[in-house]
Amino acid sequence: MAANKSNILVVEDDKSIRQLLKDIIGEEYSLIVAEDGEKGVAILKENSIDLLITDLKLPGMSGIEVVKRAMEINPDMASIVMTGYATIETAVEAMKLGAYNYIAKPFKTDAFLINVRRALEYSSLKKENLNLRETLEKRYSFDSIIGVSSAIQTVRDAIRIVADSDSTILLLGETGTGKELIAKIIHCNSSRRRFPFIPVNCGGIPGELLESELFGHEKGAFTGAITTRLGRFERANKGTIFLDEIGDMPLHLQVKLLRVIQEREFERVGGNKTIQADVGIIAATNRDLEDAIEKKLFRKDLYYRLNVIPIVIPPLRERKEDIPLLLRHFLNIISHRKKRHIAGISDKAMEVLINYQWHGNIRELENMVERIVILKQDSDVIMPQDIPPQIRMIKERAALSFEIPDNGVNLPAMVETLENGLIEKALNRAGGVKSKAAELLSINRTTLIEKMKKKGLLKPPLTQPSPLRGED
Ligand SMILES: Nc1ncnc2c1ncn2[C@@H]1O[C@H](COP(=O)(O)OP(=O)(O)OP(=O)(O)O)[C@@H](O)[C@H]1O
Ligand SMILES: [Mg+2]
Repeated sequence: MAANKSNILVVEDDKSIRQLLKDIIGEEYSLIVAEDGEKGVAILKENSIDLLITDLKLPGMSGIEVVKRAMEINPDMASIVMTGYATIETAVEAMKLGAYNYIAKPFKTDAFLINVRRALEYSSLKKENLNLRETLEKRYSFDSIIGVSSAIQTVRDAIRIVADSDSTILLLGETGTGKELIAKIIHCNSSRRRFPFIPVNCGGIPGELLESELFGHEKGAFTGAITTRLGRFERANKGTIFLDEIGDMPLHLQVKLLRVIQEREFERVGGNKTIQADVGIIAATNRDLEDAIEKKLFRKDLYYRLNVIPIVIPPLRERKEDIPLLLRHFLNIISHRKKRHIAGISDKAMEVLINYQWHGNIRELENMVERIVILKQDSDVIMPQDIPPQIRMIKERAALSFEIPDNGVNLPAMVETLENGLIEKALNRAGGVKSKAAELLSINRTTLIEKMKKKGLLKPPLTQPSPLRGED
């Protein structure tokens, strides 16, 4: 079979018609012929056929049966059935089975050719669609979670198990740890993958709007409800709804959500028709829900319902061995996207990046890589000075213990003390040279001077400028 020509299989017992088809389409397409259904099906199994053209009345296996078998072998294959007047009803039946079209005999060459082209177009569209679907699935495969740490391995194992369980899943993790990515992976590997994945940011939508956003509303339910509107639960029908920032959901909606989880039904705002919710539910939060329960901001019963299968995504600083892998991963994709060539990361720079605390987790790391790629010269190795100062300058030993005693703290006073102490130390280290001290503190010299003025640390200028000091 020619690689670049579409492959058409003709199943036809009448020799003269086989010849006719060869004459019409044999030039443009790669044609295979079979004189009965059994042979046709055998060819379908062995070859990649783009279009099947079959007669309906065949000796032995009928044309209908051939179409049926073809659809089983490859649902994306297009097929055309040829029929005489007597068998039009059967042709319609074939279309119900998935045949693309039928053509009545005797046919005109032009009409036949048009039919064949359309059917092939249809089959290639279907194939494209399948490819798209497959890439989507691949993009959100379990392997798209980068990381070798045992912490991330545990997460990967957990989502592999829960993906097909159709239970409510709760994702817990700091900002930027990959909650949304994991939600998408779960959806794309569940039996709901052919249906929508609908995210809702419960923290980003004001309470009064959130209700109709989630459950929809009937026309006239409130001022401004001009038409009936489907909520996200309805739009996610048969698919998955991702309730992001669930900890921020107002209490009155938590009651409604609890009912959806328990009864799998709800009503639109202002409506009384009960709607079935056939959806998978994944919720996520970066909040401590138990703490929120204590503060009466989150319902205990909802928490228990959600917490059936909790998956905790550890912060990046607790799985530092993943940092080099993630850096390489983002460096590859971002430099490819920006058409840049970055040679790699120097050991010193790597050390800085591994030691950093990454409170914004993977998102922060990804954004930093993007910034470096944009600012960097082609084919250079990333050096410590390429790393943004706020990351580079934070030394581990400067890390403070952020404990809050029972009687609380006085934040402004603490910050002030800390600032004064650091300025004093920096000035000492710099031998009083303000530009040097400012550099140690990662601030401008003028900012340092401003601060010193405010704190009364700046000595009044000498009436005679000292001849020994240049600019300082
Ligand atoms: N393990 C990982 N491997 C590769 N990419 C990751 C991984 N974890 C997260 N990412 C990427 O990091 C970015 C942030 O992830 P995501 O948006 O899923 O985080 P999040 O937990 O939902 O954050 P937030 O709480 O701020 O909404 C995304 O671009 C995501 O693709
Ligand atoms: Mg998110």
